Amino acid sequence: MSTLAVTGATGHVGRRVADLVADLQPRLIVRDARRAPEIAGATVARATYDDFDAGVAALRGVDVLLMVSASESRTRRAEHRTFIRAAAEAGVGHLVYTSFIGAAPDAAFTLGRDHFDAEQAIRESGIAHTFLRDNFYLDVLPLFADQAGVIRGPAGDGRVAAVARADVADVAATVLRSPAEHVGATYHLTGPEALTFAEVAARSSVVLGRDLRFEDETVEAAYAWRRAAYGAEDWQLDAWVSTYTAVRDDEMATVTDDVRMISGHAPRSLEDVLLGR
Ligand SMILES: NC(=O)c1ccc[n+]([C@@H]2O[C@H](COP(=O)([O-])OP(=O)(O)OC[C@H]3O[C@@H](n4cnc5c(N)ncnc54)[C@H](OP(=O)(O)O)[C@@H]3O)[C@@H](O)[C@H]2O)c1
Repeated sequence: MSTLAVTGATGHVGRRVADLVADLQPRLIVRDARRAPEIAGATVARATYDDFDAGVAALRGVDVLLMVSASESRTRRAEHRTFIRAAAEAGVGHLVYTSFIGAAPDAAFTLGRDHFDAEQAIRESGIAHTFLRDNFYLDVLPLFADQAGVIRGPAGDGRVAAVARADVADVAATVLRSPAEHVGATYHLTGPEALTFAEVAARSSVVLGRDLRFEDETVEAAYAWRRAAYGAEDWQLDAWVSTYTAVRDDEMATVTDDVRMISGHAPRSLEDVLLGR
């Protein structure tokens, strides 16, 4: 049996994947072993993406690796590159990476540029790979609302074909079970429909029993209040604001059939996600 490793198992996507492939006895590579999920058959190794030596040690003997992209940070590109180098050094045979729709050096959503950089590093490593380019997560869109229930950002009437985290995990697990069938593939993972933020707010309100609404704003206003409220660095502000402008410009609007094609089931809707289906 080939050896499978999964990162990010202390988070949403990685944890679900780890559960789905538990019978394959995955190696869970985590930052903090005390927080690793207890999954019968799984083993645990410790590494952070920025620690080359720990990465090599954790990845030794791994045939197939699911690399869940790291939390956004100023240093994420370098961290990803270090871990990908470690994977190559350790002799990983196939790397599956959670990327982003529209990943490109000039992606409208600025974090899509990080994902392109990671994709490039993986291509350059020579490791066989599969890219799962995820749309925004359906799970998190309603969480953009503030205390008053307002989702505020420069998205206008743009549409977003957001995908359930559970569907990303289902696709990843399918790929990990038969990696050879997915070598060199890039999948574009979306939900079943493209929604405006106004629709996200209205439909979430019905399920959550809480009044949510969307308020459009200018790009200038979007930067100004976020800068004042959070004192965040420019890269972070760019990421937050471009989440909305990418939707405004319909860069996240294309609906694909890839979730169904790979996982064998229909993609979950916003309601499915909010109801935990
Ligand atoms: N498509 C979208 O809308 C969207 C939204 C948010 C995030 N994302 C991306 O999708 C990824 C998975 O989503 P999720 O919901 O499962 O995220 P999550 O619940 O925050 O889990 C992220 C996982 O990655 C691990 N991790 C983060 N930074 C790391 C690093 N530098 N080195 C090693 N491990 C690291 C975390 O470990 P710890 O438990 O130790 O922190 C955690 O296990 C995120 O990490 C992010 O890159 C996409």
